[in-house]
Amino acid sequence: MLILGIESSCDDTAAAVLEVVEPGRATVRSSVVANQDKVHATYGGVVPELASREHILGILPAIEIALREAGCEFGDIDSIAVTRGPGLVGSLLVGLMCAKGLAQRIGVPMVGVNHLEGHILAPMLEHTLPIPFLALVVSGGHTALYLVEDIGRYRRLGRTRDDAAGEAFDKVAKLMGLGYPGGRVIDQLAQRGDPKKLRLPRARVKHAPLDFSFSGIKTAVALYLQDDGGATAAGDLAASFQEAVVDMLLRPTLEAAREFDVDTIALTGGVAANSRLRARLDEAAREEGRKLVAPAFKYCTDNAAMIALAGSYRLLRGERDSLAIDAEANLPL
Ligand code: KG4
Ligand code: ZN
Repeated sequence: MLILGIESSCDDTAAAVLEVVEPGRATVRSSVVANQDKVHATYGGVVPELASREHILGILPAIEIALREAGCEFGDIDSIAVTRGPGLVGSLLVGLMCAKGLAQRIGVPMVGVNHLEGHILAPMLEHTLPIPFLALVVSGGHTALYLVEDIGRYRRLGRTRDDAAGEAFDKVAKLMGLGYPGGRVIDQLAQRGDPKKLRLPRARVKHAPLDFSFSGIKTAVALYLQDDGGATAAGDLAASFQEAVVDMLLRPTLEAAREFDVDTIALTGGVAANSRLRARLDEAAREEGRKLVAPAFKYCTDNAAMIALAGSYRLLRGERDSLAIDAEANLPL
C-alpha cells in the first residue's frame, strides 16, 4: 500500500510517500520538508498568519516533489494520512483541506492523524520497537512522556507544566542573540563550552515527579545575562544551559523507565536531534540495561513520513475518516 502523508501543523510544509507491506513494515519512498525558518526568523518565533500563507504556497509543490522522488503519480497512491491536530489551526487547515481535495479527486480513503502519535512512532520508521516502550516527545511545542501500551494506546505519564523543552532552547537562543530557531545553534555552540561553568537551577514539579518545567531555567539565563555584562563566553553559557535541560529531561524519563519496567526508551521530536541529550540518555539507559532508540535527524523534526506511518495502522484495517473531519488545535492523544 502506498500512503501519501501530509503534515502542516506548525511551520514545516511536509509530504511523504510511504510503502507499507504490513503493520509495522514500511519503507519511506520519499520525505520532503519545506522549512519556513527564514520567514519567521525576523520575528523570533512562528507567526501563525505567515505560516498558513507559506503552507498554501508550498503544499502542492511539496506533494509533487514527494511523488516524483518516490517514482510514482497521484494514480498510484492508495490512501492519504494527514495531520489534523494538535497545532496552529490555520496551518493544519491547509494540509487537511488539501488532503480532502486529493482524496476525493483520486478516490482514495483518508485518515486524520494526531501529530504527537506521529512523533511517538517516528523511531519505528527505521527500527523495530518492542511494545511496551517509553516515548519521550520533546519538540518546540510539546514535552511529554508516554507509555506506549500498544499502537494507538498511549498513556501520558508526565508533561511540561509550562514551556516545552524546544521553546526553552528557542527563547534562550533569542536572549543570546542567536536567531530562530535556536536549538541547533545552542547544540553547536555548547560543543565548545564547559557544561559545569554556570550553576543553573534544575526544576522539579512538586508531587508530580514525572512532570517537567522549563520556564525557570529561561528566567535564570535572562537574569544571568543581565548581571554578567557579557563576561561569560557564549559556549559556556550554551553548554551550561543545555546540560540543565538535559538533566531535567533525563531524571523523569529514567524514573518512569524504572517504575514501568520498560527496556526501550524512544526519544523523539525536534529536540531529540540534540547531540548531548542523545549521548547522555543513551549512556544512562545503557547503565541500567535499557536501550535508547532515536530516529535519524530528518525524522526527529516535523515530517510527513511519521504521519503516514501513524495513519498506516488504521488504513491497513480498512478504516477511513469522513471528509467532514475538522482541524483541532488541541486534539487530545
Ligand atoms: O518537532 P519540531 O520540528 O516542531 C515542533 O513540533 O515543535 O521541533 C522543533 C524544535 C525547535 O524548538 C528547535 O529549536 C528544536 O526542535 N531543535 C533542537 C535541535 N534541533 C532542533 N533543540 C535542541 N538541539 C537541537 N540540535
Ligand atoms: Zn512536531
